[in-house]
Amino acid sequence: MTKKILVATEKPFAPEAINLMKAAIAGNSEYELVLLEKYKEVSEFKAAVKNVDALIVRSDLASKEIIEAAENLKIIVRAGAGYDNIDLAAATAKNIVAMNTPGQNANAVAELGIGLMIMAARNMYNGKPGTEISGKKFGIYGYGAIGKIMLRYAKSIGMETFAYSRSLTKEISDENGFKYCKNLEELFSSCNYVSLHIPAVEETKKSINYELMSKMPKNATLVNTARKEIICEEGLKKMLAERKDFKYVSDIEPACAEELKKEYPDRVYFTVKKLGAQTEEANVLAGIAAVKQIVCFFEAGDRTFQVNK
Ligand code: 3PG
Repeated sequence: MTKKILVATEKPFAPEAINLMKAAIAGNSEYELVLLEKYKEVSEFKAAVKNVDALIVRSDLASKEIIEAAENLKIIVRAGAGYDNIDLAAATAKNIVAMNTPGQNANAVAELGIGLMIMAARNMYNGKPGTEISGKKFGIYGYGAIGKIMLRYAKSIGMETFAYSRSLTKEISDENGFKYCKNLEELFSSCNYVSLHIPAVEETKKSINYELMSKMPKNATLVNTARKEIICEEGLKKMLAERKDFKYVSDIEPACAEELKKEYPDRVYFTVKKLGAQTEEANVLAGIAAVKQIVCFFEAGDRTFQVNK
């Protein structure tokens, strides 16, 4: 019987990505792609997931309610890196495999990160004289696929590069030509620009607090293309109020976004939606990877990118 793969995206993939995802299974009558794009209500998602065998999502909430409504679901693939939107316990309880597609949208996010830094350096393009990022100190927190690309791009622009990550060692840092920070405090106190690339998990939620931010040197910018949950919003507000030289740019709006935009229009910027990964290229890579991972799972039991082990 044909296996139905539901693509449930409140923020749709680029049309080219959908064409190529369809092409990836064309000629194989075992699979059919079903689209639920720009849905507004959870009820639409619940109804669409009822009889499908596989589910592809982006930041869409694959909640317990959705998972429980799915009667035939065997696999959920998050076409992207962060899978904090999938209720893994609910999936595991129903023996559903959950996967992500790590690295596939990393370049898109890294490019946006660099763009946000330049935008901050030029005062959000308000026309007043800005500064250049070349020659400044740049650091990443989280040495994953995005962090690695950001380091490479920042270096090519002429920035001095630093990194901190739990898994990082001085040897890796030396080999790759950036400075090793032994802890977060060292990273924040060394860099004019800090870019965050960590997941939102219990130990990272609200971990970017006032104490850390206030360690940043004069004319500091914090770039967040990760998750809003990792920021302590009270600390961010305090920092923006106290430090007139501090900027915060992000592709995710915090709960207090409106207040901050009104108060500090030249020092904060938030994209309209979470759009770090919103490029045709990233959609193509992540979308095709998701389809292929689903086919490999059904055909060969491949669980390479399983995250609920
Ligand atoms: C990710 O975790 O891969 C990014 O945050 C991209 O999310 P998106 O697919 O919703 O754009």
